Amino acid sequence: METIKFTPPLATGIEEIDAEHRHLVECLNAVLQANQNSDEPERLMASLESLRDGTRTHFAQEEVVMRRLAYPALPAHRAQHDDLFAALRVLIDHFAESGEAQLSDETLVSLKAWLLDHIAIEDKKIGKFHDRNVA
Ligand SMILES: [Fe+2]
Ligand SMILES: [Fe+2]
Repeated sequence: METIKFTPPLATGIEEIDAEHRHLVECLNAVLQANQNSDEPERLMASLESLRDGTRTHFAQEEVVMRRLAYPALPAHRAQHDDLFAALRVLIDHFAESGEAQLSDETLVSLKAWLLDHIAIEDKKIGKFHDRNVA
């Protein structure tokens, strides 16, 4: 499966958020790459754990930024973060329990959508709010 490029449609224009999103894209690409090799399930698990930990840190940081901006949709956005993080944990736990060496294509597709849709739709709204309200 092709790796992901951090393209302009994914940029919010808020540099600290974009830097973290770039890092999450790198984490996700590491998962995609590790998944190509069924000989290294430990590497795949480690990459999933890095994605999980990076996501936890990022969501917390992004919530700090939203609070600083007095972003009105913060509660709904935070609820989405909670749902996304729970979904990621379930995915990783299921994989760990399955004993499989590789993630299915279906799981990879949903993992990509899981990250990219949230950035492209919800996180971009923070960028637009920032542009309108911060000189
Ligand atoms: Fe977000
Ligand atoms: Fe984000």
